Amino acid sequence: MHSQQPIKGFSRLTRDEKIRWLSDYLPDEKLDDFLGQFRIPEEATQGKFESFSENTLSNYHLPWGIVPNVLVDGILYHVPVVIEESSVVAAASKAASFWSQRGGFTTLEISTRKKGQLHFVFQGDKAALASHWTVISARLLKAVGPLTENMEKRGGGITSALLKQIDGLPDNYFQLDLEAETMDSMGANFINTVLEAMGQALPDLINEMAGPGETEIVMAILSNHTPDSMVRMQLEAPISSLHWNKEMAPEKFAEKMKLAADIAWYDTGRAVTHNKGIFNGVDAVVLATGNDFRAVEAAGHAHASRDGMYRSLSRVDIENDTFVMQLEIPLALGTVGGLTRLHPLAAKSLDILRQPDAKTLMKIAAALGMANNFAAMASLVTTGIQQGHMKMHLQNILNTLDAGPTEREKAVQYFGDKTVSVAAVRSFLSSLKPT
Ligand code: MEV
Repeated sequence: MHSQQPIKGFSRLTRDEKIRWLSDYLPDEKLDDFLGQFRIPEEATQGKFESFSENTLSNYHLPWGIVPNVLVDGILYHVPVVIEESSVVAAASKAASFWSQRGGFTTLEISTRKKGQLHFVFQGDKAALASHWTVISARLLKAVGPLTENMEKRGGGITSALLKQIDGLPDNYFQLDLEAETMDSMGANFINTVLEAMGQALPDLINEMAGPGETEIVMAILSNHTPDSMVRMQLEAPISSLHWNKEMAPEKFAEKMKLAADIAWYDTGRAVTHNKGIFNGVDAVVLATGNDFRAVEAAGHAHASRDGMYRSLSRVDIENDTFVMQLEIPLALGTVGGLTRLHPLAAKSLDILRQPDAKTLMKIAAALGMANNFAAMASLVTTGIQQGHMKMHLQNILNTLDAGPTEREKAVQYFGDKTVSVAAVRSFLSSLKPT
């Protein structure tokens, strides 16, 4: 048993050797067969998946589906989503369809500028560095010209390269704060490449312009804080048209939705859950299109904390007789580069969306976030969330208990107005068996 033992050179083992090593942890399984089930029979495609990451032994599947009827700025999309959580797709579909009959999602603002940072220490004359920065930065931009040329042809490029110092950090610490327009790419590779090239040119340039003193590059990396790659989106409808639930008058519904949204704005305990509901929809699109959901999450949570308190990303207003809901969310998404074309299903997702540009994809992801957020809040202030969840939960339990078609039908009927639990379903199924 290798347990707790360090292992050297795992990455250099062959697949068979890795599996042999793993079988010490899973001795009762036919591990090779088990892992093989989830691999793609066609070697070339499997090879492609394995090349995305390291030490890959199998694929981990998640459901890929569609949220239909998402109306964004007057255009109808049927949106591919990847999510493992039950009820999310059903909730988004219900809200999307509801709003498609009430004008849909409207973009108020959108931007796609990204940031990068070159962190360095300069031991020389700080005032000279600051006063020569305009020339230094212009020469840096020239030095990376061959790297930015293509992006400029596409309408993007570096939009600024400022010099910063940060309170709390040593006096000799500086930051080149880079801003770039990366058009339809998420921009990570572009920004990192440019920053590293700038890092190579910077020490000599500083020496030449600002006089002697050692310049040491600490690190060069994009910033996932993307407050200028942002979507602001709105839903708006007369309150009298908000017939979401048969048992709740639209006026009462709007009032409770506003209070629920305000609670999420003022109370962090609620805000985190509220925003999680938004990311249920956003991440599902981000994953389906081969984008980086960790980057999107990190940026979203930073934005939620922008005034020092973690708050909701969406708000509700009642303006006279009108219900207005807004979402403001940073999204750094691409429709070229990264996995967007390499992952066969991500490529298909983008085909279904008719090859959107990055801005369109950002709007669609934001709309899905809003759809989920609206649906979650609407359930919470009316029936409660469990009713919807329990339908799916019941199906999962019936699957686990190997229920047949007739048993399933009877169980769905029986549990229509009862609390679902594994024990209750098991006991119901055994009551169906002849004694
Ligand atoms: C569950 O995945 C998401 C919700 O908790 C969101 C919310 O509470 O608003 C239902």
